[in-house]
Amino acid sequence: MADFLVDLRSDTVTRPTAGMREAMATAEVGDDVYGEDPTVNALEAEVAALFGHEAALFAPSGSMANQIALQLLVPPGNELLCDADAHVVTYEIGAAAAYGGISSRTWPAVGADIDPETVARMVRPDGYFAVPTRAIAVEQTHNRGGGGVIPLATLRELRRVADDAGVALHCDGARIWHAHVADRVPLIEYGRLFDTLSVCLSKGLGAPVGSLVIGSAEQIGRARMIRKRMGGGMRQAGILAAAGRYALAHHVDRLAEDHARAARLAEAVAPFGVLASAVRTNLVPLDLTKHALDAHALAAAARAEGVLVSVLGPRTARLVTHMDLDDAAIDHAVTVLPRILAA
Ligand SMILES: Cc1ncc(COP(=O)(O)O)c(C=O)c1O
Repeated sequence: MADFLVDLRSDTVTRPTAGMREAMATAEVGDDVYGEDPTVNALEAEVAALFGHEAALFAPSGSMANQIALQLLVPPGNELLCDADAHVVTYEIGAAAAYGGISSRTWPAVGADIDPETVARMVRPDGYFAVPTRAIAVEQTHNRGGGGVIPLATLRELRRVADDAGVALHCDGARIWHAHVADRVPLIEYGRLFDTLSVCLSKGLGAPVGSLVIGSAEQIGRARMIRKRMGGGMRQAGILAAAGRYALAHHVDRLAEDHARAARLAEAVAPFGVLASAVRTNLVPLDLTKHALDAHALAAAARAEGVLVSVLGPRTARLVTHMDLDDAAIDHAVTVLPRILAA
């Protein structure tokens, strides 16, 4: 193993900076299950305001934040629509069905390239013989869709589709910060298009833990109960909320650096199976379908040279940039990866 370790597996591998640790160590705290943690309360108010909603709720993970939102919007035995690659139906271990009794139906995976009319045609009305659709969920940016950004115009069309059908619209905004930076769309502009959003502080923003559910005061009141039922009520969580507040103050605008570094990676591996133009944010998907190496072989060869990459499927790998990587780390990766892919 080379001693130069460049971890390109995920933007969740970041460690808190010295400034963030200082903010955590000095945070004012209280018992958040009693609603008495001032730092959690401040974070919730701050995030609600950023997205122009009445309230927000701090949750331990993005998965829990998504699942709380889905339970708010879709009663048991009713239906959620989303794309076949959505995190909520791919990586949350069947939680919508297991905890919410929610039936999910998907449109074919197209990442961020959604056709609102396709979604409109899928909505099922109320009736005693069919599963009624109650909500549509989209992902901004799209994880399995290579960090793609759903254009604002598409989101507005989806809002119209949801309003026409009388169903809710949820955003899995784990990386909505990246979309905001890439497309320069104000967060409040995104916020007003959705009934509920989930956002993560631990993907790209550098906080160790933490996500929020965002919605109306009535929804967040119910969300608090659902979170407790799911075992997500935390006590002196202000230590974690302080990391989140620090991340929002210091680590949003710098995402542009991660996007530029992802573009460098994409350019370096472009001759071997990834389209540089398709990379918009910090995720770089590698399609190895036509390559001699499969994803496991690539990952093993890269690891031997001090570069860690994710294996998403037999012929799909992924590179992710984040705040624990600097230009020297990317220099190393753009030397190693093309050499392996060219061999
Ligand atoms: C798009 C998206 N949504 C939700 C999540 C879930 O977050 P967590 O791992 O905190 O449960 C992730 C995790 O990477 C994600 O990429």
